[in-house]
Amino acid sequence: KTIPSIDFVLNETSYTRLCSTKKILTVNGLFPGPALHVRKGDRLIVNVQNQGNYNVTLHWHGVKQPRNPWSDGPEYVTQCPIKAGANFSYELIFSTEEGTLWWHAHSDWSRATVHGPIIIYPKVGTNYPFPKPHAEFPIVLASWFKGDVMEIIQTALANGGEPNISDAFTINGQPGDLYNCSKPGTFRIMFDFGKTYLLRIINSIMNEEMFFMVADHNLTVVGMDGAYLKPIKTDYIMITPGQTMDVLITANQSLSHYYMAARAYAGVVYDNTTTTAIVEYNGNYTSPLTPVFPNLPNYTDINAVTNFTRRLRALASTQHPVDVPKVVDIRLVITLSVNTLPCANNSCDGPNGSRLAASMNNISFVDPKVDILQAYYKQIRGIYQTNFPSVPPYVFNFTADDVPDNVLTPKRGTKVRVLKYNSSVEIVFQGTNVLNGAENHPIHQHGYSFYVVGFGFGNFDNETDPAGFNLVDPPEMNTVGVPTNGWAAIRFKADNPGVWFMHCHLDRHMSWGMDTVLIVKNGTTRLTSMRRAPSHLNPC
Ligand code: C2O
Ligand code: CU
Repeated sequence: KTIPSIDFVLNETSYTRLCSTKKILTVNGLFPGPALHVRKGDRLIVNVQNQGNYNVTLHWHGVKQPRNPWSDGPEYVTQCPIKAGANFSYELIFSTEEGTLWWHAHSDWSRATVHGPIIIYPKVGTNYPFPKPHAEFPIVLASWFKGDVMEIIQTALANGGEPNISDAFTINGQPGDLYNCSKPGTFRIMFDFGKTYLLRIINSIMNEEMFFMVADHNLTVVGMDGAYLKPIKTDYIMITPGQTMDVLITANQSLSHYYMAARAYAGVVYDNTTTTAIVEYNGNYTSPLTPVFPNLPNYTDINAVTNFTRRLRALASTQHPVDVPKVVDIRLVITLSVNTLPCANNSCDGPNGSRLAASMNNISFVDPKVDILQAYYKQIRGIYQTNFPSVPPYVFNFTADDVPDNVLTPKRGTKVRVLKYNSSVEIVFQGTNVLNGAENHPIHQHGYSFYVVGFGFGNFDNETDPAGFNLVDPPEMNTVGVPTNGWAAIRFKADNPGVWFMHCHLDRHMSWGMDTVLIVKNGTTRLTSMRRAPSHLNPC
């Protein structure tokens, strides 16, 4: 039977925010972009026409795309860019995901404006594992820059310094009441007293983790990253770039209006402004002039991050079982560092004239000239090397302050890790503090979701920490926030053959090289092997 298809036309469209007008790259003229609505197990073809000015690719974040890396999208990893004026068709294959995911551009910084929700309903005849909400609202958090985002990252990479910080955060495209010239457009939703609503929250922000709250209302988190959770009742959530959370909210407060608001948890570079939207009850009443404002955690409140994150548990029900590997075949330890590279005449904008970089196991990823998938498939030599290290090159106190940068000057390279089909993999991500730059790094794995079996602070201890792993109901995610000055451990079964990008979802770290690629080899049968290449591949 034929697979349904839709058109995504990329073009530059004028938008006015913060008192100034500029052209931004959009899909079908929309910011945020259009939502895809599917059911678990569906397929969908998205025909992309690039009528913009830049190279672009699209990625379907959290959609596992079984055996189909051809449609995954990261530029120079699974495809060459779709050049201005060119087309490309993606075939999306939904398998086990259910809940909320999202799509976004995956070349340079175009994802700042090119992104939208993916809503995956249960199969016909099955239901949510919670009472059906009265209505649903996607809540897309994003960053707004007054400048041109492609210029911002290209300038930063050319000069070696920090890219500009965003000028606002937005909720569904709107900065909200607290920013200049933004009040009339503030996003609002209407509540009927007594009803329960589902918020599908997506963190599409470029460089910051976010706290999110609705004043005076409890939130019940029931899912994240396209998988269900045991319900968590909380007054705030913390969500990293890349993550999605499904949150129930019941309209049980007095008839009035309330702010929903989001602001950053501190990174090294941060925008500490607050974006707002308004929740308003239907009815006849006189409300205070200003909506009630929520008491968001402070932007440095690491305890608020931990207290929320450690409550995340998989639903682990009969219908939604957990399948975490109990025994591990392959163990990797991957350090995450922001560091520096030397710069000719010390003339760059990084510390002491250096160039800012980022790395995994001290390898700063370099985009190849031809995408890795094509090179792997056609056995083109010299595009990438298969010696990404399985342990860090130096062992010391990674989270101490002032780890000398000279022992940790990264090597540049396009190094990947090859995994046998169906091996059980454990990866421990170890945060470091090389430039006094400890941060929460949201690490995203393409082609998979994984179980987060543990996290902690300081250096991961191979002798004692594994004893505390949760192998019963670990949360399933595609993006894990590796704690500031700490570590996180994930497990998954490498049962999706292909070429899969893994990277920090803070875009400046991704651009600086905190990336690698896992190549999962084919199994022995056709159904355990990658699909054949589609007939049309874009040239590099
Ligand atoms: Cu949300 Cu590599 O992507
Ligand atoms: Cu990072």
